[in-house]
Amino acid sequence: MRAPLIAGNWKMNGLVRDAQALAQGLRARLEKDSAPEIVVCPPFLALAAVREALAGSPVKLGAQDVHWEAKGAYTGEISTAMLQDVGCTHVILGHSERRHIMGETHEHVNRKTRAALAAGLTPIVCVGELLEERNMGDTNGVIERQIVKGLEGLSAADLSRIVIAYEPVWAIGTGKVAAPRQAEEVNRFIRKLVLQRSDSRTAEGIRILYGGAVKPDNIKDLMAEEDIDGALVGGASLEVESFVKIVRYTS
Ligand code: 13P
Repeated sequence: MRAPLIAGNWKMNGLVRDAQALAQGLRARLEKDSAPEIVVCPPFLALAAVREALAGSPVKLGAQDVHWEAKGAYTGEISTAMLQDVGCTHVILGHSERRHIMGETHEHVNRKTRAALAAGLTPIVCVGELLEERNMGDTNGVIERQIVKGLEGLSAADLSRIVIAYEPVWAIGTGKVAAPRQAEEVNRFIRKLVLQRSDSRTAEGIRILYGGAVKPDNIKDLMAEEDIDGALVGGASLEVESFVKIVRYTS
């Protein structure tokens, strides 16, 4: 069975002291929780402080992006080694905000995913359609292009080491969560795409999260769907109590 994963994407919020306080709160509340697997992804500049605040807790550390080159003249960028140096095990890649606001392409996502895998980081690769694309009936087409191009050249062994997050752009930060059935349909489609590129063991084992307006009151219904293996949480991961409630969706 796939072990559920709940990840918090803190995005560009808070100063180092806020991140520290949030991490300390999570550590205090989640000390004994080892399931589901929990990852928090603070802004780059708070990673070191959050690692310290989480020491000894089961909560893992992730970043929100990474560059594909190992080092050199890439002003403003952060490498995989730098992330590992501050204790990251995971990295979010291809988030819709990076694709749509920062102009990230499928090729960028592909290069970043390969670099993260080569370094031994777990990439959380995000895919998802815009509202216009859904309304035009092109949801599967968009997802397929993002998966095919973003994960091009990855072996079954590579695919077994990544996490995919389906985040419909119309649900992100809008409070409009996808209906569990809607999310399930896309997650199942993604699993089928993975199967076409690997084997049944890989496709059955890969974790496919849902993200977009996940809150304490909708997590349980989402997680009840067969192909939803966890959540990538934005706004509701910025408060200790709401994130803890999401992590404890079974209780
Ligand atoms: P919200 O949970 O705030 O809708 O954000 C989702 C998201 O983008 C997580 O990566």
